Amino acid sequence: MHKISKSKQLSENEYDFWINAPLIASKAKPGQFVILRINEIGERIPLTIADADDSSGNIRLVFQVIGKTTAELGKLTTGDTILDLTGPLGMPTEIKKYGTVMIAGGGVGIAAILPIVKGLKNAGNRVITILGAKTAELVILQKECREYSDELIIATDDGTLGMKGLVTAAMEHVINKETVHCCWAIGPSMMMKFCTLTATKHEVPIFVSLNPIMIDGTGMCGGCRVTIDGSIKFACVDGPEFKGTEVNWDEFISRMKQYKTEEETCLAGYQK
Ligand code: NAD
Ligand code: FES
Repeated sequence: MHKISKSKQLSENEYDFWINAPLIASKAKPGQFVILRINEIGERIPLTIADADDSSGNIRLVFQVIGKTTAELGKLTTGDTILDLTGPLGMPTEIKKYGTVMIAGGGVGIAAILPIVKGLKNAGNRVITILGAKTAELVILQKECREYSDELIIATDDGTLGMKGLVTAAMEHVINKETVHCCWAIGPSMMMKFCTLTATKHEVPIFVSLNPIMIDGTGMCGGCRVTIDGSIKFACVDGPEFKGTEVNWDEFISRMKQYKTEEETCLAGYQK
């Protein structure tokens, strides 16, 4: 059992939990994730580790309510427990000195870029961070991202904070003013696809983090299969990070929609 040490609601549908999991906290690296199960009959869901504090033994998970399990999770609060957490899972981000790096997070995907921003800053890179969201109140973790960034650009779809536009417009702005040696994009699938097109147009290497449905998280069930450079890979063990240019985006985006109806029915039944 893992106790929620601290919980905070970040926006209408987004929550920020610190959960006690000392073994995971001592090993977690940027880019890795956990698979969580709230109770014995619960669904297993993957969540990126947004931060880890070895001294207190806590890990930070930031999530958006999108289905029944995340709705159940959002009802928990400080002092409640979660049955099991498996992790850290997945291949970590390659943290090294690239030069100037640009890291774009979209919506709740901002939580997933935080450890990468931190890691790349600590490795001596010039870090340019882009936070994109629909509106000002959805721009999460601004303070933490700013602390580890040489430059922080905010883009909102409605222009209520920072520049008006999508993260891709902010990427163009950065690439047009200085040389970027490598970039990362994490957020909705469409965002990651278009960030890949933008980076590729300017010949900047790009990594994305894929979040398909996962079950075991150990490469055995095949639920998380994705096509990378024409070969089948399992996001849980081969990823979740891949070169954006090698992802079969049409297949990934279509597989992400596969259980949409069932998810909506399940959530509606739970909310009745
Ligand atoms: P959202 O739909 O509000 O989009 C956030 C931002 O992404 C937008 O403000 C925009 O700047 C950018 N964006 C969206 N579509 C774009 C497009 N077509 N072209 C360019 N930019 C675009 O995000 P949300 O509602 O917070 O959803 C977050 C999504 O991120 C969820 O679907 C979740 O599954 C995913 N996510 C992925 C990971 C991962 O590891 N890949 C981690 C956390 C969340
Ligand atoms: Fe089962 Fe990846 S989640 S193979």
